Amino acid sequence: MKSKQKFYGKIFAALITLSCVGTPASAAEAAKNVVAGRQYFMRYCASCHGVDGTGNGPAAKSLAIPPADLRRLGDKYGMPLPAARLADVIDGRHTVRAHGSHEMPVWGERLYSSPAGNRGEKGISDVLSKIITYLNSIQDRRTAQR
Ligand code: HEC
Repeated sequence: MKSKQKFYGKIFAALITLSCVGTPASAAEAAKNVVAGRQYFMRYCASCHGVDGTGNGPAAKSLAIPPADLRRLGDKYGMPLPAARLADVIDGRHTVRAHGSHEMPVWGERLYSSPAGNRGEKGISDVLSKIITYLNSIQDRRTAQR
């Protein structure tokens, strides 16, 4: 009887701990992903899309098609950004792209030959999901649909 009470006591304590820790832990996790995503963005995307994501990077001038304003993705895709769909767009390996009109690198291939590729598809989707978490955080809230 006593041990049963102790058992329920432990479960109760665990539930309390979970409900207290749950939110801050995941918020901290999300914040960490935004920071990591920003680093990937600066390394892989800012040359064209600009450090602020609006499409004014130094390489943009030499492109036939201007890089998209990534702070307006919410207008096109809705908020929060649909992670799986955008990962596919950025990855580029599974999307049909118009011939001769495409200037955006196929990131799935690039990332495959980067250190992230050492962890295979998991490594690639990990990098893409962090970048998209970051993109979510820089959406122009004045225009993005909610
Ligand atoms: C070499 C220049 C270049 C680099 C580097 C680049 N992009 Fe792009 N990106 C473009 C151009 C140009 C377009 C618009 C035309 C197109 O879709 O091909 C575009 C389009 C996009 C779109 C589609 C927007 C829409 O309206 O659907 C997304 C999302 C995107 N880029 C994200 C990224 C991310 C994330 C990175 C970094 C991993 C990146 N880009 C790196 C040139 C680049």
